[in-house]
Amino acid sequence: MNVGIIGSGGREHAICVSLKNSKKTNNIYCFPGNAGTSIIAENIETDLNNFEELKKLIQKLEIDLMIIGPEKPLVDGLVDYLEENKIKVFGPNKIASQLEGSKIFTKKLCEKYNIPTANFGVFDNITKSLSYLKNCKFPIVVKADGLAAGKGVYICETLKSSVSAIEEIFNGKFGEAKEVLIEEFLEGEEMSFFIISDGKTFKKFGTAQDHKRVLEGDRGKNTGGMGAYSPSRLENDMLDKKILKKIIEPTLKGLEDLKTNFIGFLYAGLMIVKDEPFLIEYNVRMGDPECQTILPRLKTDFLKVINLCVESNLDSINLEWDNEKSICIVLCSKGYPDQYENNVEIKRLNEIKLEKNNYIFHAGTKIKNSKVYSNGGRVLNFVIKSKNLKESRDSLFRVIKDLNWENGYFRRDIGSKIIEK
Ligand code: AMP
Ligand code: GLY
Repeated sequence: MNVGIIGSGGREHAICVSLKNSKKTNNIYCFPGNAGTSIIAENIETDLNNFEELKKLIQKLEIDLMIIGPEKPLVDGLVDYLEENKIKVFGPNKIASQLEGSKIFTKKLCEKYNIPTANFGVFDNITKSLSYLKNCKFPIVVKADGLAAGKGVYICETLKSSVSAIEEIFNGKFGEAKEVLIEEFLEGEEMSFFIISDGKTFKKFGTAQDHKRVLEGDRGKNTGGMGAYSPSRLENDMLDKKILKKIIEPTLKGLEDLKTNFIGFLYAGLMIVKDEPFLIEYNVRMGDPECQTILPRLKTDFLKVINLCVESNLDSINLEWDNEKSICIVLCSKGYPDQYENNVEIKRLNEIKLEKNNYIFHAGTKIKNSKVYSNGGRVLNFVIKSKNLKESRDSLFRVIKDLNWENGYFRRDIGSKIIEK
């Protein structure tokens, strides 16, 4: 089969590598991909907002199946468009993608189907928001409704900071805002929980622990994710059952009641409070960097799984997973998530010799005259799968030291909660 992937991050490179390992894969095309994907696939530059152009390329290249990595094309309705044009595609449709595209859509669904989540209020102006805040306990969480690329969420310790967050949102910092979401702050431990669904049945697709803050000790600004390990240390059968019964199943029922279904990866961002799961947010795709830790643990042929999903036949296969654990450290450009420099050459990349079960997934990189340059905030993902997370992490430190990229920054405490126990 010829397969196309939309996206250019570490998640998409990891998807590419898993596809490459499948006997059924013929050519892989990445729209637009990165320096890493260019080695095993063909990278194609195109405007992802121009669906018509993309369709023509897919037809010309005789791509049999498209996999959509990031949220924006999903929320914009790319799946609906490709399906209308008889192109096989893996990912949720536009209505189902509202689970990520609108936090208020998801909160209302939680309310209707009794899905555990932080208590909340939705307000269409500043005055109403302020009168709600008067009776709130701090910290409080203020959120913009739509996609905001990991921004748009404010954890506010005081009334003053809440007011300025609400003002920023209504003043259009994240696009036109008709409403703002204010919710209770939940104290617990986060967990990323994944399922894969063909619209009729679904299967669990692993768990992971992301590290969102830029600085060690979970301090500093939120990022796309500075590292992860899989499985989450919180994972157990009892908790799985609660998550499926209280969160995933009612969500899928909610979509069914809207006369639609969910095909693709669904990522529940959860807060586990005293062994009880609460939904913080949904994403309608794999997580990044979680994907880079989960896919190397999948033993079943990845393309086969995706293809069965698109053919509504996921039921016919069992997913098999490695018992080993994996850990990912993200190397980013100094300054990320604020200002950082692009186009810095990563000189020693070709000299790094990777052992079995070690991976380097590229994210913000590009290739020019056979040289690799940085091209984004999160640049490279270093991953090891093994029985021992501490040994893996120490090995990753050595690899990153060998690379010796002067513009790089990474967190040394990925997985500390589980490693130092
Ligand atoms: P989100 O984009 O909704 O996942 O929010 C980004 C991050 O903010 C989450 O990963 C949490 O760390 C934090 N967060 C969001 N909502 C809450 C909440 N209600 N209580 C505590 N932390 C939250
Ligand atoms: N790792 C967080 C995300 O993919 O949104």
